[in-house]
Amino acid sequence: MRVLGIETSCDETGLAIYDSEQGLLAHALFSQIDMHIPYGGVVPELASRDHVRKLLPLTKQVMAEANCNAEEIDAICYTAGPGLIGALMVGASTAQALAMAWGKPCLGVHHMEGHLLAPMLEEKPPEFPFVALLVSGGHTQLIDVQGIGQYEMLGESIDDAAGEAFDKAAKMMGLPYPGGPHIARFAEQGTPGKYLFPRPMTNRPGLDFSFSGLKTFTLNTVEAAKEANNGELSDQERADIALAFQDAVVDTLLIKCKRALKQAGRKTLVIAGGVSANKDLRAKLEVTLSGMGGQVFYPRNEFCTDNGAMIAYAGCQRLMAGHTNDKQIKVQPRWPLTDLPPLDLPTDKASD
Ligand code: KG4
Ligand code: ZN
Repeated sequence: MRVLGIETSCDETGLAIYDSEQGLLAHALFSQIDMHIPYGGVVPELASRDHVRKLLPLTKQVMAEANCNAEEIDAICYTAGPGLIGALMVGASTAQALAMAWGKPCLGVHHMEGHLLAPMLEEKPPEFPFVALLVSGGHTQLIDVQGIGQYEMLGESIDDAAGEAFDKAAKMMGLPYPGGPHIARFAEQGTPGKYLFPRPMTNRPGLDFSFSGLKTFTLNTVEAAKEANNGELSDQERADIALAFQDAVVDTLLIKCKRALKQAGRKTLVIAGGVSANKDLRAKLEVTLSGMGGQVFYPRNEFCTDNGAMIAYAGCQRLMAGHTNDKQIKVQPRWPLTDLPPLDLPTDKASD
């Protein structure tokens, strides 16, 4: 089966063509980041308008790259949620219009299931069952995954997501949106041990996360450093704070991953979502997992953040199992991952 995948849940227009026999044939991405930088975050209305501009040219581009025409596409998948409603509607309407014009089935895909399955696109994919740590701009979740659609939520953030914490901390330090990669870059020059930030909710049992206290701690540290330097934050101070902040988030995630693996009795960890691109997080998880006789899997960098390939892949798995939601333009800005049906229960409720 050959699937065209469309991702428009936030500030990236992602297109891809995935073939169940041949693998990923083509993918293309347009990031709107430059457009949103002056506003310090994503402006939903601008995001929707830009998806309208980019969707069809990128569709043509991936079809040309995959050297395939409309007849050779078997189905179309799009991100139906969670995400920004206007942005989702653009992807959903385009997907349904193409499906109608080409006479093909269409399926709405859960964005976080896309992230979760993104490592399956790699040469050495993980095998079920595993524990997944989903860390993006909107989600921080630990999930026991027995198979596609068989998800047990082990823990999640009770306030900010890890990526959101990176973005907010970066803003406090005068770094642009999205903050994660900038903090990671500054942290490389940081002085180890200069600051020690708290590891929230690690000294009590449970697998939930909270990052809002860390945000306040960062703000106080930034303000104190500025006050000591005539109201300016020097690049070295910025690097020292970035390192302490990143260490705190990475350590917190590490502690909870170990706990989750133990609780679920698993030795395989999958990390996905934008924050899984963080080199320090990957390196520390690799050491931890190999010490436990286990293994950590993650997508290649470009598939950690939002992309069309993960949507084409996830959608293809569900379509092959008989899931479809023909002709409905329906999106769900809020959509718990655990509401998804297991793969072996063919249903038209895949995005209800
Ligand atoms: O998955 P994603 O592209 O979008 C959502 O679905 O939210 O994740 C974006 C998030 C942003 O918060 C960004 O700051 C964070 O991922 N991010 C990183 C890194 N690269 C992206 N956080 C830490 N380190 C990175 N290298
Ligand atoms: Zn995402």
